[in-house]
Amino acid sequence: MGVGKRASLLAISWLLAASAVTPAVADAPLEEVTTARAQRQLDARIRRLLAQMTPEEKAAQLLTAAGMNIANAPDHDTRARSGVGSIFFVSKPAEINRLQKLALDNSRLKIPILFGYDVLHGLKTVFPVPIGLAASWDPELIEQTQAAAAGEARGVGIGWVFGPMLDVTRDPRWGRIVEGPGEDPYLASAIARAQVRGLQGPQLGTPGRVVAGAKHFAGYGAGSGGRDYDEANVSDAELWNVYLPPFRAAIDAGAGNVMAAYMPLNGIPAAGNHWLLNDVLRGQLGFKGWVVSDNQAVRNLLTHGFARDRSDAAERALNAGTDMEMATGLSNFQELPASLSAGRISGKRLNEAVARVLAVKFRLGLFDHPYVDEKAASDGLASRESLDLAVRAAERSAVLLRNENGLLPLDRTKIHSIAVIGPLGGSTRDPAGPWVFAENEPVLQSLADGLRQNVANGIEVSYAPGVTMPRRLIGSPIEMMDRQYSRPAPADDDSGIAQATALARSSDVAILVLGEGQNMIGEMGSRSSLDLPGRQQDLLDSVLATGKPVVVVLMNGRPLTLRGNLPPAILELWYPGSQGGTALSRLLFGDAVPGGKLPYTWPRSAGQIPTFYAHLTTHDPKGSERRYWDDPSSPVYPFGFGLSYTTFSYKAVQLDHSTIRPGASLTTSVQVTNSGPRAGDEVVQLYLHQRSGSSARPVRELKGFRRIHLDAGETRTVSFEISPEQLRYWNAAARDWMIDNSTFDVAIGTDSMAPFSASFNVER
Ligand code: NOJ
Repeated sequence: MGVGKRASLLAISWLLAASAVTPAVADAPLEEVTTARAQRQLDARIRRLLAQMTPEEKAAQLLTAAGMNIANAPDHDTRARSGVGSIFFVSKPAEINRLQKLALDNSRLKIPILFGYDVLHGLKTVFPVPIGLAASWDPELIEQTQAAAAGEARGVGIGWVFGPMLDVTRDPRWGRIVEGPGEDPYLASAIARAQVRGLQGPQLGTPGRVVAGAKHFAGYGAGSGGRDYDEANVSDAELWNVYLPPFRAAIDAGAGNVMAAYMPLNGIPAAGNHWLLNDVLRGQLGFKGWVVSDNQAVRNLLTHGFARDRSDAAERALNAGTDMEMATGLSNFQELPASLSAGRISGKRLNEAVARVLAVKFRLGLFDHPYVDEKAASDGLASRESLDLAVRAAERSAVLLRNENGLLPLDRTKIHSIAVIGPLGGSTRDPAGPWVFAENEPVLQSLADGLRQNVANGIEVSYAPGVTMPRRLIGSPIEMMDRQYSRPAPADDDSGIAQATALARSSDVAILVLGEGQNMIGEMGSRSSLDLPGRQQDLLDSVLATGKPVVVVLMNGRPLTLRGNLPPAILELWYPGSQGGTALSRLLFGDAVPGGKLPYTWPRSAGQIPTFYAHLTTHDPKGSERRYWDDPSSPVYPFGFGLSYTTFSYKAVQLDHSTIRPGASLTTSVQVTNSGPRAGDEVVQLYLHQRSGSSARPVRELKGFRRIHLDAGETRTVSFEISPEQLRYWNAAARDWMIDNSTFDVAIGTDSMAPFSASFNVER
């Protein structure tokens, strides 16, 4: 039985009973709940505490309050004194300890505060943004980065992080694509497991780790028009086959928390969606932890025209299955005691929610160790080890999109001067991506500085911005906290472009860094176009016209449209984090070889959206070039695409069975050879296509992958098991999981265009 299952022994039937006082149980330290005995002990401690709590104290436990000064709202000190359940957006150990002390000294029951924070890809050591890490196709690496992030977070006193963000999306206009795992549910599920294991460790309560909050449940990535917060209308088949799988994976890996999404899913706002939070999340996915609303989402039940007033919002959220309210400012859950007296919520449901919150505090060991060691906290941040991991993560996330005539890697002996061009090339803040906060003093490095410090051989590195990066004037909530980095851009004239072009002309190679500023993506960072913002396209055209070797380095979190002549080399670096410049210098000169692959399909323009590889076959399957009259409907780069400095060749796919029964497994394998001149990594990808069945199925679906390292000339056999789990799908008509009797085509190769070269049958 897995740890998650054992924890599920939490038979909370007692919670449902009246809160009678029970015999005392010795308060032994309780940090690991892996046995039935520990579970009973935990249950007893919660039961005893619950029995002493007033409805007001219970309601207070069901709030996580933002660390901002909002008019008319109680400040943190008042909240701490009165026994608030959780505070978020505080990350200084001294402040955490101060607030904790206020709670423990002044609140009647001395229940410790759980501190929460958005730690998506690091705190002080910043790893590549999640979509970048997804491009590594390396779950082990992702787990390591999240373990390092968890260590830093826990060290400063943060016990709960609002991640992983698991919203599959097929719409890159949506800014939050940068926080997530990309377009594919299979890849997203592997990432979900890795992130939860990294953040929480082998079990919830592992020292030095945190509680992971999988978000945003569910369907947020399907918002209309790619606009942030917009309604999501998702078919039954898509919900189960595309949007829910990564949440299932996170829950199976033991995620202690789930955050309900902002938007209405098929008309019902997520925080008030009983079917979603009960039937699906708890019933079908077996979630046992606590559900938090997104920030202000309980109040938003009014905004959505769903709830009548604040009490109605609180009652309906709680009754739907939201256990805790996240709020900046006034709490709606404060109304719950009155709702209880009026009989509109039950004591049983209130106790259930509170018990879930108390359980996590016990399991984290907060009752026994409520304070952090301030000295150790600062010593443990941005260690050499975690910065080295940041270099490795940035290298392994990079995707080589184009490399005409083997321009890359550059030859150190032939290059004497490098021109770094573009506003993002000299920026220290942008490489960190949107979910990074100044107050944590993140380690930052511009690409130009990273190159200067690392290229060696006396190579001269010069920098010219060329143009300015437009910045949004209306800040997102994150920007409001991070104002020092937000500034409007002055209008560009041509002189900057001329200057940068002259620099390119006088250098041996131009490294042109193009993309989007970190505050043009992320929450409230949707765009209606995928064009390069500002005058970057003009800059590209002008630098290309010099005829000098040009390497475009992309710093972005979504696909962008490059128009006109393409540069000979394009390296996708994403927002690479604290050590992007160091990683870039190693990638450019071949000390590291790009091996990442795209976690999404790269459309030609915004007009093609949504475009994704796992689509159904149309009425006119061969007519992909005539489905738009003004553009092909094929993408620029397919899902799973990425080049290397070497090449790989594949032999025909082998299967150990040609026919299996439903419910049986088979093994497929392929020989991969590094047929090029140097060692490198390949991500071997397995795709299946079901030819017929009780539902039309996608043209292909990813069902396995492995990132391998091969020396030049080396051959390896890579095998994948195909189990019932990979063959089943949710059939919307039957409203059930199905494995059809059918023929399945198998492709194993370098990206989602790999040819099918074998097939097997499933027969009853
Ligand atoms: C709103 C975002 O949707 C969510 O992802 C985040 O965790 C909270 N704000 C808190 O910052």
